[in-house]
Amino acid sequence: MDITTSIAGIKLKHPVFNAAGPICTTKEELDAIGASAASAIVCKTMTKEPRKGNPEPRYADFGRNSINSMGLPNPGYKAYMALLPQLARHEKPIIASFIGMTLEDSLEIVAGLNEVKEIAAIEMNLSCPNLPGKPQVAYDFQRSGEVLAEVGKIIRKPWGVKLPPYFDEVHFKLIADILNGSTIQFVSVINSPGNGLVIDRDKEQVAIRPKQGFGGIGGPAIKPFGLANARKMRQLLKPKTSVVGVGGITTGGDVFDYILAGADAVQVGTAFMQEGPGVFGRLAAELEEVMTAKGYSRIADFRNKLKEW
Ligand code: SIN
Repeated sequence: MDITTSIAGIKLKHPVFNAAGPICTTKEELDAIGASAASAIVCKTMTKEPRKGNPEPRYADFGRNSINSMGLPNPGYKAYMALLPQLARHEKPIIASFIGMTLEDSLEIVAGLNEVKEIAAIEMNLSCPNLPGKPQVAYDFQRSGEVLAEVGKIIRKPWGVKLPPYFDEVHFKLIADILNGSTIQFVSVINSPGNGLVIDRDKEQVAIRPKQGFGGIGGPAIKPFGLANARKMRQLLKPKTSVVGVGGITTGGDVFDYILAGADAVQVGTAFMQEGPGVFGRLAAELEEVMTAKGYSRIADFRNKLKEW
């Protein structure tokens, strides 16, 4: 059985690693991912300045799903420039997630990350739904094109973007055209669909404090949208652009579905938060079981082979 894969030319032992999201902020958390079976280590989205994030409670589970409005708490890019090289001993690709609050911030962060040789790839997060008063950049197509063009001029690592879900045929086409005109080598789809609302019925209160209870939704409830966005990106982007599927993965069967729809790898957020670092090995083992049952021995046997009627 060979479940190796690659994104943006970077080889991975198997397709399953963490999403830039839960429990990937501190050195201890990142070391735990490094020590786990995850095939890569993604850090929390870093900003130029350290951020405390939004007021707590800012994360809540509802069943196997979640709502969060973390607000990008992180120690700032300079701290990660010092921290990420310490993860090299885990001998797996390190992916640095970032977003500037302005284009100038983004360029400063990228210039710093370019210098860190231990970083294998950079993921620009154009899709955080939890910054009060700030729109999700990726829903502004003109702005997204400008940001991608400017960052593309200076970035010297394999790089990609994390996108929010799109729900409209026209929007799929618009973002794909912009991405095809940029230098990105991978997309991660989807970030948590923003501005959902979860209610604690006993308390008759919203589940989280920030933004009057509105936040990004994770878990199996969003999987159909994650699958659709991964599939659309695979259909519309240049063949050499890798697709990383994210959203609602809780079983090896879910990993299989994303790869069948065209993903090269997957990231896990809510299930990692709920289950801890053992989730990565479990999902990789379950993927092998699904493949064995179906008679497949390599990812390429079924990747992007989803049938239509
Ligand atoms: C957050 O920190 O608010 C979540 C990260 C994201 O959705 O991009």
